[in-house]
Amino acid sequence: MLGPSGGYTLSARFLKSFDHIVAIDKDPLAGWRFWARHSLRNLEWHTSDFSRIEWLFGFTKKVQPSHILFSNCLGQMPLQMPVSWSDWKAELQEFIHAVSSTCEVASYHDRLSLSGPSLKALLEKPWDQLIYQSDQKLLEATQKLLRTGQQLEARTHETDDLFESLDGHFTYLVWPLTPKQYHIIEFFRSADV
Ligand SMILES: C[S@@+](CC[C@H](N)C(=O)[O-])C[C@H]1O[C@@H](n2cnc3c(N)ncnc32)[C@H](O)[C@@H]1O
Repeated sequence: MLGPSGGYTLSARFLKSFDHIVAIDKDPLAGWRFWARHSLRNLEWHTSDFSRIEWLFGFTKKVQPSHILFSNCLGQMPLQMPVSWSDWKAELQEFIHAVSSTCEVASYHDRLSLSGPSLKALLEKPWDQLIYQSDQKLLEATQKLLRTGQQLEARTHETDDLFESLDGHFTYLVWPLTPKQYHIIEFFRSADV
């Protein structure tokens, strides 16, 4: 599990469904926060930076996971890259493709940020009922919003093609940060190996 922080978006039921969890987060306080929220016996914590893909390959080889979850961390990676995002993304895609032959890969991450004065009024349904089952449906819904003529801004988090080489399933949910700013979260789960 990569970037779980305090595990605020992870349910106890989900976490307890695994025999053993290896978590990596570079924040030195994240482990304490996670432990305070989920006192799990099956947890092994590593305070490390996974952005060095070579390191990630080596660590994965050692741990041999059956599942890998990027826990809401990939949307922030473009902001912290010492090298260019496109170079790093290509390395990450190579990693994801390589591990997916032996391991189920999943991620949830920021895909789009929408901001504008009256988002709630523009949505076709209340935000918690909006679920898009494909990238195309998300695109159509976003374009419809942008065509309303309101002063809206849609910003990409550049996570759109991270999992393109894998078979799997995408789902999109809306997460209102404030009444004027909504995030679209992309969920991806690869097909069973
Ligand atoms: C938005 S938080 C994740 C929230 C979390 N999934 C939850 O349920 O509460 C992103 C986390 O990813 C971690 N992170 C970001 N980049 C990282 C990196 N390169 N190596 C390790 N951890 C990283 C951050 O320290 C942070 O704790």
